[in-house]
Amino acid sequence: MTAPAWTWTYEGYDPEEERLREALCTLGNGRFATRGAAPEAPRGPAHYPGTYAAGVYNRLTSTVAGRRVENEDLVNLPDWLPLRYRIRPADADGPGPWLSPDHPQLTGHRRTLDLRRGTLTRWSSYEDGAGRRLTVTERRLVHMAEPDLAVQRAVFTAEGWAGEVEVEAGLDGDVRNTGVARYRELADTHLTDWETGSADDGVYWLRCRTVASGITVALAARIRAAPRGGTARTALAARTARRVLTVPVRPGTPATVDKTVALHTSRDRARTAPLPAALETVRRAPAVPRLLASHHRAWQHLWRQVRLDVPGEAGRILRLHVFHVLQTLSPHTARLDVGVPARGLHGEAYRGHVFWDELFVLPFLNLHFPEVSRALLDYRHRRLPAARRAAREAGRAGAMYPWQSGSDGREETQRLHLNPRSGRWLPDHSHLQHHVGSAIAYNVWQYWQASGDTAFLHTKGAEMLLEVARFWAASADWDPALERYRIRGVVGPDEYHDGYPEADRPGLDDNAYTNVTAAWVLTRALDLCRTLPEGRRRPLFERLELSHDERQHWDDLAHRLYVPFHRGVISQFAGYGQLAELDWAGYRARYGDIRRLDRILEAEGDTVNRYQASKQADVLMLGYLFSPSELAGMLGQLGYLLDDDVWRATVDHYLHRTCHGSTLSAVVHAWVLARVRRDDAWTYCAEALTGDIADVQGGTTAEGIHLGAMAGTLDFVQRGMTGLETRERALWLDPAPLPQLSKFGVRIRYRRHRDIDLRIRTDRVRITVPESAHAAVRVRLRGRPFTVAPGTTRRIDLPDG
Ligand code: BGC
Repeated sequence: MTAPAWTWTYEGYDPEEERLREALCTLGNGRFATRGAAPEAPRGPAHYPGTYAAGVYNRLTSTVAGRRVENEDLVNLPDWLPLRYRIRPADADGPGPWLSPDHPQLTGHRRTLDLRRGTLTRWSSYEDGAGRRLTVTERRLVHMAEPDLAVQRAVFTAEGWAGEVEVEAGLDGDVRNTGVARYRELADTHLTDWETGSADDGVYWLRCRTVASGITVALAARIRAAPRGGTARTALAARTARRVLTVPVRPGTPATVDKTVALHTSRDRARTAPLPAALETVRRAPAVPRLLASHHRAWQHLWRQVRLDVPGEAGRILRLHVFHVLQTLSPHTARLDVGVPARGLHGEAYRGHVFWDELFVLPFLNLHFPEVSRALLDYRHRRLPAARRAAREAGRAGAMYPWQSGSDGREETQRLHLNPRSGRWLPDHSHLQHHVGSAIAYNVWQYWQASGDTAFLHTKGAEMLLEVARFWAASADWDPALERYRIRGVVGPDEYHDGYPEADRPGLDDNAYTNVTAAWVLTRALDLCRTLPEGRRRPLFERLELSHDERQHWDDLAHRLYVPFHRGVISQFAGYGQLAELDWAGYRARYGDIRRLDRILEAEGDTVNRYQASKQADVLMLGYLFSPSELAGMLGQLGYLLDDDVWRATVDHYLHRTCHGSTLSAVVHAWVLARVRRDDAWTYCAEALTGDIADVQGGTTAEGIHLGAMAGTLDFVQRGMTGLETRERALWLDPAPLPQLSKFGVRIRYRRHRDIDLRIRTDRVRITVPESAHAAVRVRLRGRPFTVAPGTTRRIDLPDG
């Protein structure tokens, strides 16, 4: 691995690492993405090409462990990559073998991801034992300005021979969802009704549709080769369409094959028929050099909006994270009806589902692409009726958002999951993570504060916020003995704990994270009710049938929800303090990596439910969502004292009892520890940074990147280390740079002000507002107010930095 700031290079070919590299070299534009697979190699253990379009799901029924289960998956679409080749030397009897990195003739291989330009370049060299060398440079892109287009350019250079290169460039519809070994027993055939065809101009195509959701997918390809003089024909089969051509080569005269592909689906807007659309798109596509140039320009434009100047290796990794976040959620997303897929559009883990991970993603996007955040909130708003229905079916009022969401907003969480360690299919209760509703409400509020989009807050935002508040109110029962409201039968962010050890029902009582965030939602809902303009308030209250008494009840709840404590620290849930202590050292000694403690214990016939051991930050999530003063304020409102000592003791308690089985955990720990200025913050920050590039969770990145953690690291710099909050129409700053990251710069968009540059050092803050800004920006640095006028820079020393 070499280390220039804007490129990631993987030297050599290693079949063991291939799937990980495919995931990390995925190219996408928010609308669709394609894994960085080798187009000349057949699908197999080392190669898993995958193309996924945002929001293209399909539902299938499988039978596992004697039960019928239904799953909705993000569909692996027809593969547009295939491009294989072999040499036809003029002085040989016939063609050589089809070449690929797995062939013994391979003498060199390199793959470079260019983040600035948004391209992947694969360089391979071969030698045939008779002194004939072939080098192939394949460059590809998924177009950031023309979101229906993808391009491959392969350049063949001959040394020691002359003749032709034979190329087969295909569209392969014979694909299934087989990217995740754990899902092996589940149905995986999502496509049907294939058709292929070609036209006189050499353009060829493939059309099929998803089995149950009935989404038509069409791909059309155009091939251009230089120099001319070879042969070309189209070979059509039931599920594949190929163009087979020969191109003359000589030493010193490389041959070029350009493949341009258009992908359309029946979910596209303003298009009725995907196939004619794909044919038209590919026919009117300019030549590859022009497509490359317009693609580069689109990326340049994006990078200008997300300037993140962090020196060294950390900066390089953060840039990769920006790259993958923007390939999953780009300005094109603003025109789609999609949510935040937890694993990007990079693989099949978690089936492309949408969890609470947007909590880690929207705060980053809010300060760069608020229109994208808005679209992601619209996705939730369109599924508000489904969430209301779910609440009603559970006998409650309001909106119960699903823990895992897909196409239509129903609960998509699997009811059974496989423990690969024991081979057992086990009940899955993670759908009890109703806290996802608070995450949506939190994002509504954050989005509004950062963007100033009051029109949204007062309409769709209000509906979601009030309906989530109402759901919490309907979920809380008064306990006369405790004189508190309690929310029972839930699962918190730590999904390893899904019930009490001997209980016959799943769920826990009084999860502190759930209750505090519920109180926060109720408080914000009441704030909103008070501040809505009269013209909006009345119709909204009427539509939601929201009475004065109901609001009174919310107020009561927001002051009297129960938060359990034990031995001077906040308890993760009621009874947590009575659970056994795990022998952490013993388990680490025995198993090494104990992130999947749930699987280890279950395979031993035990359960995490018996122990004070968490998968990921749960109570500590509170320190991630709320600034110290806001959190102390919330707890104070509920009648609890949360001073620095209690919070520090709480942080310490969970720090030693968490196995970080989710990549989100390191992000939250880095954030929380940095805010309390603990030296070990950097350990977690380093883990969060390397989570995907080093595949910290052991094999999971190959199945898709961890989008929440990637965006979380960006937000860690942007908001965590700057202490940035957007409230009361000002930018609030309270920098807490780490010694290892003591100098950095971020560019943000705040309300209507674009390109505000913040540069932070341990001893100084510099804020620049561009001349184009329409007004001065109000800032509060550690509480001290000042303004920065357009076209000026303010430098402020931090005396106690
Ligand atoms: C985590 C969840 C997360 C999900 C998707 C799980 O491993 O525990 O918090 O939402 O992954 O990223």
